[in-house]
Amino acid sequence: MSAPDMGGTVVIKWGGGLITEKSQLCTINQTVVDSLADVCSKSDKRLVIVHGAGSYGHLKSKEFRLAEGNIESLDQDSAVSEVRSDMLKLNGIVLESLRNKGIDARSYPPHTWANGVGATFKGKLPLHDGVTVVYGDVVDDTSTDFGILSGDDLMYRYATEIPGVERAIFAIGEVDGILRVPPSRASSEDLIEVWSPDMEFEGEHASAIDVTGGIGLKAQRGAMIAEKGIDVIIVNGEYPQRVLDAIHGKSVVGTKIVSGNC
Ligand code: IPE
Repeated sequence: MSAPDMGGTVVIKWGGGLITEKSQLCTINQTVVDSLADVCSKSDKRLVIVHGAGSYGHLKSKEFRLAEGNIESLDQDSAVSEVRSDMLKLNGIVLESLRNKGIDARSYPPHTWANGVGATFKGKLPLHDGVTVVYGDVVDDTSTDFGILSGDDLMYRYATEIPGVERAIFAIGEVDGILRVPPSRASSEDLIEVWSPDMEFEGEHASAIDVTGGIGLKAQRGAMIAEKGIDVIIVNGEYPQRVLDAIHGKSVVGTKIVSGNC
């Protein structure tokens, strides 16, 4: 372990589109999960891992309009419990992979401790001495009965409220960071290396699938984290070395997010 770099906390999101096949119900990208777990085992940081939902959460949530909360005319009860149980399955796969790499990981399903959605959800952030794992989930909500709490909101709260956070990393799938144009039209020159909220980009949000905010929400929450003085980077999680370098604060291919007013 390199002494100057030890000890701090890094909060990292494993995007749902990275760890699952986003359009095929409950399909895992096991190789990616295992490679991310391997990266975590090589780091000497105290880690908080926030994973997304991908095909374990978005598809059914979309079908039953869970992000809108309770809709009188719709029977959403079984969908709420099915998505919670699908998310527990995904979380189980993540935990098993981490433990297979010898990591002392503990998971705290948000529906057991969080209430409300968005950046101001309620609930004391659970923290484990080893690696803490939380994820985007269907949570109770006092005004709408239930709703979808995105991992991006968990990222914001963990990165800005727990002690000793050195940086926040969003590992995403398929792209190297925030691109100036949608990925289908982008070349390597279209990667935005430093992004602040005053810069526009043409994000592609798969709103037919996605019930949370896509790249736009990550960028927004990232900027809110940066505003509190914490470094934020978006990296392509399909490149394990980039993720490991990002954890250690080295410069990597990706998008660094800075707050608009600095
Ligand atoms: C969404 O969480 C949670 C559910 C749909 C149940 P995220 O917003 O963190 O998920 P990804 O990363 O977009 O898949």
